[in-house]
Amino acid sequence: MATVPVAVVGCGGIAGAHQRAWKAIFEKEPDLAEIAATCDSYRPAAERYADQVAEYQGRRPEVYGSVADMLRAGRIRAADVCTPHYLHHRVALECIAAGVAVQVEKPSGLTVKATKKMIEAACARDVLLATAENVRRGPSQRTAWWLLHESGLLGNPRGFFIQQVRHEQPADPARAPAWHWRAERTLSAGGWVVDSGAHFMDTIRYLYGDVHSVYGRVEQMRPHPMVRQGLRAFDEQEDYFTATINFESGVIGQWSRTSAFPGHDWVQCAIYAERGAIVDPSGDVFHGPHGQAEVRRPGEETRTLRDLWPAFQETLSPERRQRLFPHDFTDGFTLECYDFAQAVATGREVEVTAEVGLKAKAIAFAIYESAATGQAVKVEDVLSGRVEVYQRWLNEKWAI
Ligand SMILES: NC(=O)c1ccc[n+]([C@@H]2O[C@H](COP(=O)([O-])OP(=O)(O)OC[C@H]3O[C@@H](n4cnc5c(N)ncnc54)[C@H](O)[C@@H]3O)[C@@H](O)[C@H]2O)c1
Repeated sequence: MATVPVAVVGCGGIAGAHQRAWKAIFEKEPDLAEIAATCDSYRPAAERYADQVAEYQGRRPEVYGSVADMLRAGRIRAADVCTPHYLHHRVALECIAAGVAVQVEKPSGLTVKATKKMIEAACARDVLLATAENVRRGPSQRTAWWLLHESGLLGNPRGFFIQQVRHEQPADPARAPAWHWRAERTLSAGGWVVDSGAHFMDTIRYLYGDVHSVYGRVEQMRPHPMVRQGLRAFDEQEDYFTATINFESGVIGQWSRTSAFPGHDWVQCAIYAERGAIVDPSGDVFHGPHGQAEVRRPGEETRTLRDLWPAFQETLSPERRQRLFPHDFTDGFTLECYDFAQAVATGREVEVTAEVGLKAKAIAFAIYESAATGQAVKVEDVLSGRVEVYQRWLNEKWAI
């Protein structure tokens, strides 16, 4: 099996977590993959990243300031794309056209249509296209799946209430935060619902199956001043959302968050099933359930997901353990990058394909579409493009 030469495209915040992942993989299986190129339109970021890679890898990756130059050099077989959302499809399409396998950070394309274009291109060229999704791969999420679907301890899921209400004082205009691409919806496509929400959507599909329909409200209750090149700007992301999420299986979910309601902060992250509940005290409405989440069954001592993880591990066949936790990796980023590298090296499929990522992000966009239309929205109508009110201007702006 030839070592896979990988490029990291977009060497900003989350690329740091990917680097730790690639390093962990290199330490266990140095022949599987090497970071052969780094690419960032802000070249110093790509240079710094290459220096860091050289420290553990020995060989320094080639550094590029543009994807076109990187592809022209023809040295890579796989690209790990960690750019802002509005660039996902552009970078992916360029790589696919060059026959390079691609893993794209969530939400894997700006809009539903953007992701569909990426998938079409990948199918036409027979190129692997993966969604970088780390959260479902964690031990606590895998243990929750086992509790709900295999162990019989909790039985079939019934519903969840995952909600957080808090009050954050808007920034004093004199000390307003610096503008960032996430603040502009033409660049990010939205705020919490599609950003961290993309993880939540993937996890709920993983735990409860496909979503039939949603009713959502998404609002910005107050202006959020920022500073852009010395001038006043405003953050366009939501500071309130709420959604009722109806699954094909009959599971009903309530998912909400706001930072704009003063006077009474509270948080509740509870998943209910036939025989008990998983109650997560972490206060994280996007990335749970975490290891400290309590598994409560009436009349029994409470145990955490972390306590139950060894019992789940004992049930794993060697093949399944190798698939879920190769080299005993438990970090989601390491597992997603390993899955991608193995798939490129061997020609097998990844767990979170672009199609799986698309189905998850379509739930997030169904919430925006519901808020834009004031109607309950079927996820299949968002996937097919039949409902496209919120996303139309984004598709038009970027000619998607
Ligand atoms: N999995 C997670 O937990 C997680 C967490 C945070 C972010 N993300 C995702 O990672 C992606 C990047 O987010 P981030 O927070 O790292 O953003 P960031 O702004 O910190 O980094 C983006 C990088 O892309 C570079 N870039 C911009 N245009 C480029 C171009 N044309 N070619 C190459 N590079 C270019 C920027 O210079 C920057 O270094 C997003 O999709 C985001 O949703 C995932």
